[in-house]
Order: sequence, then C-alpha cells, then structure tokens
Amino acid sequence: MNFKRHLVTSALPYANGPVHIGHLAGCYLPADIYVRYLRLKGEDVKFVCGSDEHGVPITIKAKKEGVSPQQVVDKYHKMMGDSFKEFGISFDIYSRTSSKTHHETASEFFKTLYDKGVFKEEVTEQYFDVSANQFLADRYIIGTCPKCGNDNAYGDQCEKCGSTLNATDLINPRSTLSGEKPIMKETKNWFLPLDTMQGDIEKYIDSHKEWKSNVFGQCKSWLNAGLQPRAMTRDLDWGVKVPVDGAEGKVLYVWFDAPIGYISATKELTPDWELYWKDKETKLVHFIGKDNIVFHCIIFPAMLMAEGSYILADNVPANEFLNLEGDKISTSRNWAVWLHEYLLEFKDKQDVLRYTLCANAPETKDNDFTWKDFQAKNNNELVAILGNFVNRTLVLTHKYYQGKVPAITEYTKEDTLLLEEITKFPAKIAASIEQYRFREALSELMNLARAGNKYLADNEPWIVIKTDEKRVQTVMSVALQISANLAVLMQPFLPFTAKKLSNMLNLSLDLTWNDALRTNLLSEGHQINTAGLLFEKVEDETVAAQVQKLEDSKKANELNSQSEINTPKSEITFDDFSKMDIRVGTILEAEKVPKADKLLKLLVDTGVDKRTVVSGIAAYYKPEDIIGQQVSILINLAPRKIKGIESKGMILMAENNAGELSFVAPEKSTINNGGEIK
Ligand code: MF3
Ligand code: ZN
Repeated sequence: MNFKRHLVTSALPYANGPVHIGHLAGCYLPADIYVRYLRLKGEDVKFVCGSDEHGVPITIKAKKEGVSPQQVVDKYHKMMGDSFKEFGISFDIYSRTSSKTHHETASEFFKTLYDKGVFKEEVTEQYFDVSANQFLADRYIIGTCPKCGNDNAYGDQCEKCGSTLNATDLINPRSTLSGEKPIMKETKNWFLPLDTMQGDIEKYIDSHKEWKSNVFGQCKSWLNAGLQPRAMTRDLDWGVKVPVDGAEGKVLYVWFDAPIGYISATKELTPDWELYWKDKETKLVHFIGKDNIVFHCIIFPAMLMAEGSYILADNVPANEFLNLEGDKISTSRNWAVWLHEYLLEFKDKQDVLRYTLCANAPETKDNDFTWKDFQAKNNNELVAILGNFVNRTLVLTHKYYQGKVPAITEYTKEDTLLLEEITKFPAKIAASIEQYRFREALSELMNLARAGNKYLADNEPWIVIKTDEKRVQTVMSVALQISANLAVLMQPFLPFTAKKLSNMLNLSLDLTWNDALRTNLLSEGHQINTAGLLFEKVEDETVAAQVQKLEDSKKANELNSQSEINTPKSEITFDDFSKMDIRVGTILEAEKVPKADKLLKLLVDTGVDKRTVVSGIAAYYKPEDIIGQQVSILINLAPRKIKGIESKGMILMAENNAGELSFVAPEKSTINNGGEIK
C-alpha cells in the first residue's frame, strides 16, 4: 500500500538523566536517518518525540537528588532536548508529558474509554509499604522474577529477561522505599481488559509478519501466554490525575499516559494532527528499544482500538541493546558515554559518533560499543575511505584546475560502467532504509566512497597528469561527480558532514534524494570552494583517556556503593527490644571448625555460664588473637546446631559494606562478664 504521509515517533525517554549512546543507537539515530531520508524523498513526514516526565523513575530520581519531581524533569528535559539537537536528531517537535496539552489529551483519552465502559473497575489487593505509607507500584517494588529468577525485577518489568510483570507476580517482593516486605492493602483501579481483546490484537499482529523477527516473536510469545487485564491507574501522586469520580489520589499508569504523548506532541505541532493519527493513508512507525515492545505492539494498540478512531502502527522497528565495553550501560552506575560529555572531548564530531553507532547498531542482537572500535571506524573508514577520497578529489581539482570542474573529454568503457554503477546506489540505499536496515544502508554508502577511492587508485591522475592531461580531466570530473552524489546520499546518516561537503563542492543545498540518480550534479566550469578535511584521525591517547575515564567511574562507583547505607528496618516496640537478653562476655577458647572456612568455635564466659558459640568470623580473626576479647552476646537465642556443634547464643558483630566484621565491646574495662546491654 502506498501511503500519503508518515508519522514517525521515537520512544519518549524518561526525563531522569542525560542522554547516552545507548539511547541514541536504540531509537533516536535510526528514526532520524529514516526521517531525513523520507524528507529527501519529498515525503510528507512528521517526526515527534518528547520527555516522559511521569512514572516512578522520575519520583525515585527526585528522592535520590533530594529535589521535587518537577525540578528533576525540568532539568533533564532541557538537557535531553539540547543533546538531541546537538546531535542533529531532527524532531519536528520535542515536547514533554507535563505539558498542558498532554494532561488534557491523556485525560480525555481515559475519559473516552471510561465512558465507553471499556475499563473493568476492580478492587484488588496491592502491595503497600506501611512505614512509607504508600502503595508500591512499578519500580517502587522489586523482587524475584517468576520467569527468569532475576532477584532485582521491578514490579512492572524484569529488565533481565524483558518480561512484563504485575507487582503481585514477584517472588519475595520488597519495597524500594524501605527495603521492607510490603503488606497487601485493598484499592480500586481501572483495568484494560486485554484478555477480552486478545483476538483483535492477534489479528493485528498476525497482519504484520514483515516486522523484525525479534519484535514479532516477542508479541507472539505474549499472545501465546494469554493476555491479562492490566491496571491503567496507580495509587501515586505524580502523574496525570485520573479524571473520574472516586479516584482521588490516583494517577494514570505511566504507560497509559506516555504513548499518548505522541498524540499530544503531534497536536502541539500541527492543527492537522488528526490527519496523521486518524487517516488510513498515514504510515505510523514507532522507533523503540526492545524493553518497550509490548507497550507499543500490544498495550498502546489495544488502547487505540478501544478508542476506535485511531490508526495503528505500520511498523515498530525495535532495536536490541547497546552495551559499553562489555558491560550493560547504566545511568545509576555511571557506566555510559554521555552525549554532552562526548562533545566536550570531540567537538564538532557528532557525525563520527553517528557513524559508529549506526555501523554498529544493535539491530538484530545486542552489540558492544568500544572506544577501540570507535577509533577504528573513524580512522579506517571515515578518514581512510570517505575522507581520503573526497580530499584527494578536491585537492587535485584545485591543483590542476583552480577549483573548476574540468570538461569531460572521453569516457572509457570502465568509466561508463562505473557511472552506471553509481546510479544504482540511491535505490540500493533506499531499499535498506525502507526495511529499517540502517547498518546495511550505511555500508552501501561507504561502498560508493570505496568505488571512488578505487577509481582514483586505478587511474592515478597524479601520475597520468604528466603524460595525458586530457584523460585526467575526465578522471577528475568523474571523481567530482561521485563526491557530489556522496554529499547527497550521506545526508540522512552524516548530516553535518554532508553540509560541509556540499559547501566545499559549492552544491545547491536543496538537492533531493533522486538527484543522486544523476551523474552530472556538477557542470563543467562549476567553481568549487576550498577543500578542508572532513575527518581527522583519533589518536591512541585520546582513546586511552576515554577508557581510563570509564575505569575511574567504575572505581568511584564501587566506592560509592560501599558507603551506601542499608535502608532502615521498620519500627519495633520497646517490648520487642527488651525480649533480647544481651550480655557482655569474654572469649575463653577459640578454634577453627573443621571443613568450614568461615566458622570459629568459641567458648564464652557470659557471667551467667560458660557456653559454646559457633560464629562466622574466621575470615576476620585468627583463633589465637581473640582469646580474652570482650564481646556482646545474645544469650537467649534458641540454640542451633551448626556443623554438628550446638551453638548457644550469638556474638554481635558490626559490619561495613565490604562485609568486614568487628566485635562490639564495652568501651570501659570496668564492665564485668554478665553485664547487661540494654
Ligand atoms: N520512557 C520510556 C522508557 O524510557 C519510553 C516511553 S515510550 C512511550 O523506556 F511510548 F511511552 F512514550
Ligand atoms: Zn526475568
């Protein structure tokens, strides 16, 4: 089917941190390449995005930084928007979900479904943190993933295996606010009955067998497992208020409101927004990362179907994840290359990063970004192939012809074949882009530069000039045409370089994709401008410094996490405390427990009696060093058999985050054995 217009979206990033290379490679760069290409084809296209400013990721960040959620989103919305702009991500609008339009749009959308009776209103038991006096939705609760066993799965999703979860699915749930085991408490919520919509969703997914196999496969496995109703409201106070009676203190589920952000952004962009959302001749494409697949392929489409007047996505080309130097990129562990920091080191080199990330895009599987590979791609490809070809061509044109495009004398058979070859590139690159294969498209582009390089190497104009000036005119003319075609075709991928090259060639800036079908973009006598370098070598020291920086941040992070204090346990009564009988005692004897590295068998004088205690301190104390050591001992703990030895009581130890243990003993030597600790 031919479409009249395109609406392209990139996942709205949470405004809880700056943009890193993983974001860029995942869904902003590919979308930008796609959109720039469509624009060059003269298509009607809108490219929308914005910050996702609701949800638990924001409130958790606010708590961590000790500021309000609004301050968090204001800070990062600005930072993210700036980074995208600096890297040439050409959104038509970068909006935010705290905007008035968005609150109204999301609210109305909910109300429409509510009025249509789509939601199931249900009182269910949800996790509640008593000490924090709060319901624990989504990332406020972690526990063991029932699917893969990951101990740190969130209440809404396991990041390890990608499963989408309900908080009540977690095994051993604990609150991320207090670390406590939560209680169950009743609350009313509104559920989207995905179960009853399964048939329609299945039909939709099955009509898109052309989707990337990772995307289609994930959808199918969801459907095969059977869809479950999913709550679209939350007992939280940060978000879009639920616009119905009896919903005080509740907000829309962030995954209900965020995708509606695409609609709000389009509304803010153009009064024609409905054409882009409701006309069947619009092609809607969502660029996302793999952790967003179910929300974009199942839940959001279900919402749109239930509403009834919207089109559904034609494609959802999700990427896998990009790792960094062999390790998962992580904002909280500061294991990332941040875009704003990159620019401090690599000023004006946005295209080098765009190139590396596209050439290495995690299109079909997770991929690794390494600084060494970054250097290699820059030095061996951008500098040695593309830059070298263009530079030789321009420099020689200046040297031989004062920068004027020479007249063609006569084409050889090879020239004609090459020119024919060149005209095939726009279609080849286009085909790859239209199938969301951006790596392949980029490598085709480089093949054009390779062909140019080979042409110069084969024809050696710098030697032939001494014997056959006429031949060199033709050779240089062909090389110049290839450079011009490159300038047009590189635009989606390397927009900054394309501009530079177009300026050097003195090319008209409004050439379109199909102009690259021509091999006469530069006419005879056309004056080109001064030649500058398109790319510069990245030196070993530069790369080493970047690797060092990552190592440093890893170390700093490890130290940091060591000084992290465990969350406090919940309140107890004085009665609870006074049940414990803790005394001062002295170690009389100590010996290793056979076949147990960690254990020492101690004889302790508690003042009350002399008793045996097995204690897990062997890694920190040698038996002979602790004879006579005063300790605190809990004497009314029920006896336990450890390695066949009856252990009566427990020695109290202080522990730091590295796990090191230390005795807790009275500060004055006048405290006798049997002295009470209270
Ligand atoms: N904020 C989400 C994330 O970073 C993505 C939201 S995409 C939208 O994973 F569709 F909801 F907007
Ligand atoms: Zn899991």
